[in-house]
Amino acid sequence: MKLCLVCATGITPFIDFGSMPLGNGFLLPEQSGDEYRYRMQVGFCPECGMVQLLEQPDRERMFHDNYAFFSGTSRFMALHFQAFAEQVMNDFLPSGAPFVVEMGSNDGIMLQNFKAAGIRHLGIEPSKNVAQVAMDKGISTLTEFFSAELARRIVAEQGQADAFLAANVMCHIPYIHSIAEGISILLKPSGVVMFEDPYLGDVIEKTSYDQIYDEHTFLFSVGSVSNLFERYGMEVVDVQPQSTHGGSMRYVIAHRGARPVSPNVATQRMREERMGLSRPETYEQFRRNCESSRTQLMALLRDLKADGKRVVGYGATSKSTTITNYCGITPDLVEFISDTTPIKQGKVSPGAHIPVRPYEEFARNYPDYALLFAWNHSREIMEKEEAFRKSGGKWIVYVPEVAILG
Ligand code: SAH
Ligand code: TYD
Ligand code: ZN
Repeated sequence: MKLCLVCATGITPFIDFGSMPLGNGFLLPEQSGDEYRYRMQVGFCPECGMVQLLEQPDRERMFHDNYAFFSGTSRFMALHFQAFAEQVMNDFLPSGAPFVVEMGSNDGIMLQNFKAAGIRHLGIEPSKNVAQVAMDKGISTLTEFFSAELARRIVAEQGQADAFLAANVMCHIPYIHSIAEGISILLKPSGVVMFEDPYLGDVIEKTSYDQIYDEHTFLFSVGSVSNLFERYGMEVVDVQPQSTHGGSMRYVIAHRGARPVSPNVATQRMREERMGLSRPETYEQFRRNCESSRTQLMALLRDLKADGKRVVGYGATSKSTTITNYCGITPDLVEFISDTTPIKQGKVSPGAHIPVRPYEEFARNYPDYALLFAWNHSREIMEKEEAFRKSGGKWIVYVPEVAILG
C-alpha cells in the first residue's frame, strides 16, 4: 500500500489511468520508440484530506534544460501576475528595502514586476532554459530546486524574506515537507507566503480531470493546505479564489499568530464540507464522471470523423496529454495540435503522437472543428479567434461537459 506524502497514512487509488507518458514530454517523431512511462493513479488521504498521485517520476525527468512550458505564452497570465505582484506590493510588503522570493519563477512572468519596481527579489527555477529567459531580463535567479537546505543557504547569504511567492508549483513537489520547512526558515517573523494552484473543488465540480498529470503531485484544498502548514508553525490567514487555470485558489499563509485570520478561511472550509471533499464517495463519483466524459468525447470525435470533418487540437497543453492518452485520441481523429511555443513545434504529443504544428498552420487552413485543449485560456483564445468562428469554425470543449460551441 502507498503512504500519504503528508501524513504517511495508507491510501488506495480512486482512479487509475494506467501507464502514462510525461505531460510535457513532447518528443521528436524518431524518438517515439523509447518513451518514458509511469503509472498514474490518484488517491485521497482520509486522514489529512490530501489528494495526490501515488507514484511520480523523478524530478529531473520533468524539470531540466529543455522544459517545454514558458509562462509568457499567455498574455492574460502576464496581466494576472502583474495584478498579483501589485497586491503583494500594496498590501503586504513593508516599507524600507523588502526582499521577495519566488519558487518556480519560470521566465520571470511574476518577478519582472518586482524588478521594474526596484524591489530586491530572487527567483528559484531549476529548469535552465526557462530560467535563462528571466536572467536575460535582469531578474536574479538561482537555477536550483527549492528545499529546506537551500532556504538555509539563502538566509545565510541574502537574509530572510518578507514575501515568499509561488504559482503553479507548490502542488508539483512530492518532497513537500522540505518545502514547508524551508519556507518556515526563510520567512521573516512578519513575512507572508502567497501561493496559488489549481483548486481541488473546481476539478471535482467541473470534472476537469486533465489537471491530473505527472507534475501535479497534489490537488490542494484549504483543508489539506491548512493541515500541512500547521505542522510547521504556520497558518492559512486568507484564501482568494482565482479564475486562472480553470479555477485556482490563492492561499495567504503566515507564521502562527502573526496576522489576523480572515473569515474567508472558515467560509471556504465550510464550502469544502458541502462539496464533499472530505468524503471518499465524492472521489468515486468523480471517477464515474471522468469515464462518462471520455465516452462522450470519443463518440463525438468518431462521429465527426465518419462525417469526414477535419478536427485540429488547439494548445499542446500538458493537460491534453491526460485527455489524449486516457481517451485514446489518435492522429486519425485529431489531425494536429496547434501551439505557439517554438520548443513544442515539429514534435509529437506524448503517448498519442499527434503532430504539434505552429499556429500559422491553423490560421492558414481552418479546420471544421477545433478541440480546445487550452480551455483554461478560453477567454483569451475566443477573443483572438473571432475569424475562425466567423468562417464557420466550431469549438469542441469537454470542461465542464463535452459540447460544441458554434
Ligand atoms: N510560476 C509559473 C511557472 C509554473 S510551471 C507560472 O505560474 O506560470 C512550474 C515551474 O516550477 C517550472 O518552471 C519548474 O521548473 C519549476 N519547479 C519545479 N519544481 C521546483 C522546485 N522544487 N523548486 C523550484 N521550482 C520548481
Ligand atoms: P497551459 O494551459 O497554460 O498549461 P499546461 O501545459 O500547464 O496545461 O498551456 C497553454 C499552451 O497553449 C501552451 O503550450 C501555449 C499554448 N497556447 C497557444 O497555442 N495559443 C494561445 O493563444 C494560448 C493562450 C496558449
Ligand atoms: Zn495524509
